[in-house]
Amino acid sequence: MGLNLLFSKVLLLVLMVKCIHHVCSQGVDVKDFGAVGDGITDNTNAFQNAWEEVCQSGGTVLIADGTYLLASNQFPGPCNGPVNFMVNAIIQAPKDQSNADYWIKFYGINGLTIEGNGTFDGQGASAWPYNDCRHAASCTPLSPSLVLTNVKQSLVQNITLLNSKGVQMKIEECENLTISNITITAPADSPNTDGIHTRNINYVNILDSNIGTGDDCISIGDGSRNISISGVNCGPGHGISIGSIGKHPSDQNVEGVKVQKCKMSSTENGVRIKTWTSSIPVSVADVTFQDIVMDKAQNPIIIDQEYCGGRHDCTGSSHVQVKDVKFIRVKGTSSSEIAVNLNCSTSKPCSGIELNDINLSLDDGGETTSSCSNADISYIGPQNPAPCQNALSPI
Ligand SMILES: *[C@@H]1O[C@H](CO)[C@@H](O)[C@H](O)[C@H]1NC(C)=O
Ligand SMILES: *[C@@H]1O[C@H](CO)[C@@H](O)[C@H](O)[C@H]1NC(C)=O
Ligand SMILES: *[C@@H]1O[C@H](CO)[C@@H](O)[C@H](O)[C@H]1NC(C)=O
Ligand SMILES: *[C@@H]1O[C@H](CO)[C@@H](O)[C@H](O)[C@H]1NC(C)=O
Ligand SMILES: *[C@@H]1O[C@H](CO)[C@@H](O)[C@H](O)[C@H]1NC(C)=O
Ligand SMILES: *[C@@H]1O[C@H](CO)[C@@H](O)[C@H](O)[C@H]1NC(C)=O
Ligand SMILES: *[C@@H]1O[C@H](CO)[C@@H](O)[C@H](O)[C@H]1NC(C)=O
Repeated sequence: MGLNLLFSKVLLLVLMVKCIHHVCSQGVDVKDFGAVGDGITDNTNAFQNAWEEVCQSGGTVLIADGTYLLASNQFPGPCNGPVNFMVNAIIQAPKDQSNADYWIKFYGINGLTIEGNGTFDGQGASAWPYNDCRHAASCTPLSPSLVLTNVKQSLVQNITLLNSKGVQMKIEECENLTISNITITAPADSPNTDGIHTRNINYVNILDSNIGTGDDCISIGDGSRNISISGVNCGPGHGISIGSIGKHPSDQNVEGVKVQKCKMSSTENGVRIKTWTSSIPVSVADVTFQDIVMDKAQNPIIIDQEYCGGRHDCTGSSHVQVKDVKFIRVKGTSSSEIAVNLNCSTSKPCSGIELNDINLSLDDGGETTSSCSNADISYIGPQNPAPCQNALSPI
């Protein structure tokens, strides 16, 4: 009896060491499950089987050498240990991929790492002509490439996202997630290819990344809290934006966003807060944009509470309260005359806006101006453009 027990304990230990040796440190190679990196074969089964195996114990799924065609796939948790999805290859979406909700989705996972020097190639070019969301009132957005839903204590680093059909990376219901040293690329005229879109997340860091795309480099949606963005180079693209907020009855407050040490190169906007007209009464509060360099941004500093599009009711003012927003050391060049545009709501004027040490000149050398409505602004330090005369209480 005792000997038997000892024997099974030793056996278990041997199996665990084997697991640690093969699964946990070196990883499960998708090729061992039949994956073929020829850019032609769909690898759904191999990826699913590798995921299932690794998720059972924790460990690494390894994707190396080649171009792995992959249809829409979900990788669900919970897993019995941290899982590393190591991409040192190209994972490629089919051109005609039709699932609108995601191309690759991870959900319900604690301790996920997605890393490697590889690329998620969404092959969006063939789909972009069918995007009708820029003009149509009701439309189905093209599928986001990488979706993380309910993913916690996790890390995404070093990977590249290329030419998504819709949003490049969407993160929702996530907590304690760090995204670091990633590259996001799509042409300036690719429609609605936001780099990273967030909603209902808490405690998320986006660090040291290069994002060039056809829409917002980062768009921070409703319910985003404790967000820190640092060291992001944006361009081409529409800048770093909070919004659009207030359209849906389920929208929640945005609270605690810090954007620092970022550079905007030839972007449509620099740093922006955008809320819908006749919207629901939520708030955008405690936001800091600091040490931001503008290189020919069209609207370097902009709060737009008059946003409206499609069949939305454009008549009422925005009921979103924008408050406690600081712009500190925002410098460089604007490609339009109005470099500071604070267009706040008549029914919910912006409060606690601080402009601190601003220097934005016109890229051809001319003078820039400020435009403000319904905004309570404190000015601290040097100001170029000159402060608004018509703000609620300019100092
Ligand atoms: C990813 O980058 C980190 C630092 O950001 C580095 O330490 C790590 O070795 C890199 N990993 C891979 C797989 O490239
Ligand atoms: C960033 O990611 C790239 C691509 O994987 C890698 O070559 C580089 O070493 C990483 N840099 C840092 C600072 O981690
Ligand atoms: C990507 O990373 C793998 C594993 O570290 C390495 O063997 C390969 O040379 C790297 N490729 C490039 C292009 O850096
Ligand atoms: C956040 O997640 C990281 C793993 O990515 C973990 O090391 C850290 O302890 C977590 N922090 C909190 C506050 O949960
Ligand atoms: C995040 O934000 C919420 C609400 O703004 C706050 O109560 C909480 O303490 C913040 N910090 C963390 C680490 O969750
Ligand atoms: C402010 O918003 C109103 C309503 O959309 C618009 O007519 C006006 O041009 C905007 N002002 C600026 C300076 O953008
Ligand atoms: C603003 O920037 C311009 C161009 O870099 C520079 O010449 C000027 O001295 C700066 N003004 C202030 C007040 O810092």
